[in-house]
Amino acid sequence: AHRVLLDVDTGVDDALAVLFAVAHPDIDLIGITCVAGNTSLENVVANTLTVLDIAGAPELPVAAGSLRPLIEPPRASHVHGTDGLGDQGLPASTRVPDARHAVDLARDLLLASDHPVTIVALAPQTNLALLLRLHPEVVPKIERILFMGGSASGGNATAVAEFNVWHDPEAAAAVLDSGVPAFMYGLDVFNQVTIDEEAARALLASESASERLAGALLHFQMADPESTEAADPAAFGGHIGDAGALCALVDPGALRVERHPVRVELGGASRGQTVVDRRRRVGEDTVHATGGAAAHPIDVALDVDAPRFAELF
Ligand code: BDR
Ligand code: CA
Repeated sequence: AHRVLLDVDTGVDDALAVLFAVAHPDIDLIGITCVAGNTSLENVVANTLTVLDIAGAPELPVAAGSLRPLIEPPRASHVHGTDGLGDQGLPASTRVPDARHAVDLARDLLLASDHPVTIVALAPQTNLALLLRLHPEVVPKIERILFMGGSASGGNATAVAEFNVWHDPEAAAAVLDSGVPAFMYGLDVFNQVTIDEEAARALLASESASERLAGALLHFQMADPESTEAADPAAFGGHIGDAGALCALVDPGALRVERHPVRVELGGASRGQTVVDRRRRVGEDTVHATGGAAAHPIDVALDVDAPRFAELF
């Protein structure tokens, strides 16, 4: 099984990811760290605990982390409703969050682990950047960081920037610059995986509370995340979103992956863009390098067998 530490901003599709992580037999979920992103930190923690209840998860440490990005104020995404879970009126959990800050919890879990841990990051990377800067001693314990974020093509938060990276570009830059092995599950694949309406209806009608919640969340997901139209509440959504990053963990063979250097743009109109250098030859920028460290190559998912992930989900 993959030993996994999840970092989330739950969030409709992060909720789908938590349900998947709890249910999948090859995922050994050791803890969840929370960060402001899709919704406020307070909502993220409450939502995550509620989802764990509905998933019937065993006791598991869940800790609140960064209230805001390293530099900018938090800017919740409008697409997840007021409570971040589509305003379904789900019951509050009686689970108690871990008293430690998310960064301390992550450090403790990593150092205590006798087995390498994959960090699956489904949110702005504020907690991760702080973890790597404050506690570099955890690095040998990290198998890799599999993150939903970035894009080798266009963006969603801006024309060129994907939301998680755009929300805290300095954090993403610090994580990519750390040299820790990383796998980018970006918009190029993220936007492709959908569940059809019939399958989602079957989930809604399930005996299992976990499956019913998945069905409800899939109905809430936007029909077309690329669309600028106001979400039509009656339109069926079906995007598995961040849950796809966990599908990538357990079924990497469904993806076309290339290894490329990736850099995060920090300035101006392209702030938050991930510049994926797909050239196979040495460019003029390298020939005429004026200093500045080269970006680390990471694995970038560029295409996915979407029906295979939908089936897996
Ligand atoms: C990312 O932003 C959020 O809306 C989703 O949860 C996902 O992590 C996509 O850009
Ligand atoms: Ca997310």
